Amino acid sequence: MNKKVIIDCDVGVDDALALFLAFSSPELEVLGVTGVNGNVSLPKVMKNIEKVLTLIRPSNRPWVARGADRPLQGDPAHAESLHGEDGLGGVQIPPEEAARWGQVFLGPAEDLIIEMARRYPAQITLIAIGPLTNLALALQKDPEAMRQWNHVVVMGGAVRTSGNITPHAEFNFYVDPSAAKQVLESTLPIILVPLDATHQVPLTPEVMEERVRPLGNAFAQFVVQTTGYESRGGHFRGGRKAFYLHDPLAVGAVIDPALVRKEKLSLSVEVKEGEFYGKSYEVPGGEENTEVCLGVDREKFLNLFLDRLGSCPLK
Ligand code: BDR
Ligand code: CA
Repeated sequence: MNKKVIIDCDVGVDDALALFLAFSSPELEVLGVTGVNGNVSLPKVMKNIEKVLTLIRPSNRPWVARGADRPLQGDPAHAESLHGEDGLGGVQIPPEEAARWGQVFLGPAEDLIIEMARRYPAQITLIAIGPLTNLALALQKDPEAMRQWNHVVVMGGAVRTSGNITPHAEFNFYVDPSAAKQVLESTLPIILVPLDATHQVPLTPEVMEERVRPLGNAFAQFVVQTTGYESRGGHFRGGRKAFYLHDPLAVGAVIDPALVRKEKLSLSVEVKEGEFYGKSYEVPGGEENTEVCLGVDREKFLNLFLDRLGSCPLK
């Protein structure tokens, strides 16, 4: 039986790849996509969701809902140096096609999240691959409905490793630490996919040359363009030697839970301004209710990702 999911995202290059992976996997039925401020501003995120759906052309026309345009507190922060100014490395999609492949949900994202949890009690999984603002708003509005999720899979945090936006904090948690704290301290059935796991699944120049470019299809072109990969220099946008598949791994962990090794931990997030702002940390003696992915079968995940996406009939 396939698993019903909705995906809360801040598209973003790796978010786009995560959406491709989800929609091209028969194990999953993607019922909705919600957007949140993150890698780029919310209007760009919503545009990018339209672009990605235009490339995928999902026949089930998932719900699309607009979420929070700023964190619960403080100002929005973005990651354009990694994802390009538009969030997708300037990729062009025919504008007349946009918006045909999803159904616009008229309320805010948190209402769709609540409605889906109520409609499919214990049967649906929420995959959150951006800052956790929409989830926190849904929790504040209807904590009872939020108990209905089968699982809530969150890409975020750096548990026993360094951060990627500061030496201590991971980007999604750093953008909205209050939301991350509320979500982690709730009773949601969370599976966390932190940098500890996602840093084990990079796209490297070798993978690009040996496995992505030879595909010679629209997916390969999309990856090259959106990651800003340069064959000659052997680097990605901003001179980086690796492009991490953070968000696709969160989807992979739902498709095949055996890809990841999990440990139950009690976690929270630092919300005080200062050096440790946005850092996730273990709470000694706390209730160990978060399943945290700390290990990954890298080869198995890469095979899944490239098999599915290599044959994904992108427009
Ligand atoms: C996370 O931050 C974003 O830039 C990525 O899309 C991913 O969700 C990794 O820290
Ligand atoms: Ca993301």
